[in-house]
Amino acid sequence: MKILIDEAALRTRVAELGETIRRDSPPGAPIHMIAALKGAFVFLADLMRATSGPVTCDFVSISSYGAGTSSSGEVLLRAGLAGSLKGRHVVVVEDIVDSGRTLEHLQAIVREGGPLSVRTVALLDKPSRRVSNVTVDYVGFTIEDHFVVGYGLDFDEQYRNLPYVGWIDEAR
Ligand code: IMP
Ligand code: MG
Repeated sequence: MKILIDEAALRTRVAELGETIRRDSPPGAPIHMIAALKGAFVFLADLMRATSGPVTCDFVSISSYGAGTSSSGEVLLRAGLAGSLKGRHVVVVEDIVDSGRTLEHLQAIVREGGPLSVRTVALLDKPSRRVSNVTVDYVGFTIEDHFVVGYGLDFDEQYRNLPYVGWIDEAR
């Protein structure tokens, strides 16, 4: 396992993202963060604590990956949002944008809910593998085409608990 982004770099960048998201929001506005389970839950947990003022969260269960390291091309919705988006400033929180299909689907679900505004933040961006032309407003780190794990990201459900982002290309 090679370390791509260590704990200190993650902490610094997540703090910056939280400050930027707050600064770009209407003064004092409640921010509603929505993430797709499971990969983004660690990032969301840190990001919401790095964002001052009122912040709430909700989750959908969605995925385009099976047990392997390449996208199946299908997006599955297993569980939807618990609360209404009417009148909310939504920030869609993604762990990693690869083909972009998962994010495209998640953004569509959010827009259907009729929120006041929608922005998207992704911890990691792999632009070389993009298929869908989704908009990502804030990116933590742009990375090469490595299969990465840790900080919520898994390989076959393993490694989500690593405090850093590492890569295991030999698994491809
Ligand atoms: P997309 O729909 O192809 O953009 O895939 C995005 C989803 O696939 C992410 O939310 C991750 O759950 C998963 N994924 C994509 N790349 C990686 C990776 O390098 N490691 C772990 N999971 C990944
Ligand atoms: Mg995954």
